[in-house]
Amino acid sequence: MSAAAERREALVGVYREAAACTRCPLAETRTRVVFGAGDADADLMFIGEAPGAEEDRRGLPFVGRAGGLLGELLGEIGLDRESVFIANTLMCRPPGNRAPAPLELDACRPYLLEKVRLIEPKVLATLGNFATKLITANPAGITKVRGRPQVHRLGERTVHVFPILHPAAALRTPRLRETMSEDFAALGRLLEQPPPPQLPDPDEIADEEPAAPVTAPPRDDQLDFFAR
Ligand code: URA
Repeated sequence: MSAAAERREALVGVYREAAACTRCPLAETRTRVVFGAGDADADLMFIGEAPGAEEDRRGLPFVGRAGGLLGELLGEIGLDRESVFIANTLMCRPPGNRAPAPLELDACRPYLLEKVRLIEPKVLATLGNFATKLITANPAGITKVRGRPQVHRLGERTVHVFPILHPAAALRTPRLRETMSEDFAALGRLLEQPPPPQLPDPDEIADEEPAAPVTAPPRDDQLDFFAR
């Protein structure tokens, strides 16, 4: 079996476990777990916020109006839903579409890290304020950071992180549609670039004997995935 097929099979195992997850109270109110969908070997992975009503009903991410716009924008750069992987910070719908709670994010975090580890994306595009702040561990608002690539280590994997407005924002404010097209064009160009060099494991760095009589290198808080 090829390495990619092995990673895909492992992802199916994670999916089976996630589908029955009861790690947080959202298990009691969800209809279906929205694990994420697309190509298990994709170069591009999207992270949105959390499933809405339609996603909860169908068990698939971004299948409502925002998903329609996401598909349109992907088409502008010659991609489609099947050639990328689409996930969210949470796999279960928060009741009434409220913002995800820290306990829920903590419970979902290992699943998201496993997805990134097994899919090995080159670029992780964060959709909107919530996912962007969470993944980059930076409180800067999306309008300040959108359209500019960053590099982060998430779990075991170092990726380009590319913040983009949430498609729902462009549905609410039509003048943002053009900005989204520009950001998707830049995303297409970033996908042409090589993957970033893999950053070392911060725990291993901390374990090493310091060469000079100084303390071990400080842990970069940007490496602390889901830090708040
Ligand atoms: N909004 C999100 O952030 N994720 C979805 O899956 C749907 C809408």
